[in-house]
Amino acid sequence: MTASQHDMKPILILGGTGKTGRRIAEQLAAHGLPVRIGSRSATPSFDWEDPKTWAAALDGVRAAYVCYYPDLTVPGADEAVGAFAQLAVAMGVKRLVLLSGRGEPAAQRAEELVQQSGADWTILRCSWFMQNFSESFLLDAVLSGEVALPVGAVGEPFVDCDDIADAAVAALTDDRHIGHLYELTGPRLLTFAEAAAEIARATGRDIRFVEISIGDFKAGLIAAQLPEDLVGLLMMLFTEVLDGRNQHVVDGVSRALGRPARDFTDYANNAAATGIWGEAQ
Ligand SMILES: NC(=O)c1ccc[n+]([C@@H]2O[C@H](COP(=O)([O-])OP(=O)(O)OC[C@H]3O[C@@H](n4cnc5c(N)ncnc54)[C@H](OP(=O)(O)O)[C@@H]3O)[C@@H](O)[C@H]2O)c1
Repeated sequence: MTASQHDMKPILILGGTGKTGRRIAEQLAAHGLPVRIGSRSATPSFDWEDPKTWAAALDGVRAAYVCYYPDLTVPGADEAVGAFAQLAVAMGVKRLVLLSGRGEPAAQRAEELVQQSGADWTILRCSWFMQNFSESFLLDAVLSGEVALPVGAVGEPFVDCDDIADAAVAALTDDRHIGHLYELTGPRLLTFAEAAAEIARATGRDIRFVEISIGDFKAGLIAAQLPEDLVGLLMMLFTEVLDGRNQHVVDGVSRALGRPARDFTDYANNAAATGIWGEAQ
């Protein structure tokens, strides 16, 4: 196969309609690179819960962005990612870029399985996404004007999904990132109260942060009829991952991209300008 024929093989983007995958797919398409979305609603359909769907998604692709759903900390996620990586390599997929999470032993096990798969790998080990406030489970709380969470003064270096996407595109297309583990964080620590205050300032809306007990948090999730496994996942994230273990900034974005990480203030201003958080009251 010539180099140009190789370039025309698609890159599979798992979670290609989600927070990171959508951005990666858009960038690759803008570069004229063929992309295949891997998700339940894509054709062919890809479902992490149904390994029989994996081969069709991998058929004929040259690289894959591996984004597990819902979270690498759920039981069985590491085995699923390991099995997926093995199948990918057996089907001739050369390069795997794994989206991982910081301070999460289960995510670190998934990383090891990808590293041992025989693929050319890059790991993107990320802190909490800024976009959780605008494109995910914290959006409703922001819209309600009250962000009530069981977390105190712990600082989190929220990372911008645009930085993750830039790093993923680089890793999927540039050999210099093979064999690198990049820990991706934003440029500064913010408590959840400070993050809510940034969004309040950017929107001109009254958005309060309230620290609640873990029991009240769980009761609220159950009252909102969240599925049991999602309740367990959020409880684990707020009790374990936010215990202070990740309370430091690292330089993975500049190591991967040669420029500083995007700041929360810019994220908040840009997201507010889209109208996602509504008009000021
Ligand atoms: N959120 C964070 O702060 C954070 C931080 C660090 C690491 N992570 C990691 O990021 C990963 C993704 O999390 P996210 O919260 O950003 O989600 P996301 O990528 O926004 O998730 C949505 C995407 O997943 C697809 N999807 C949903 N269920 C699926 C299934 N059963 N099989 C295949 N695809 C499915 C959706 O498409 P369809 O509906 O069409 O299937 C959509 O493309 C997790 O592995 C997590 O460990 C997240």
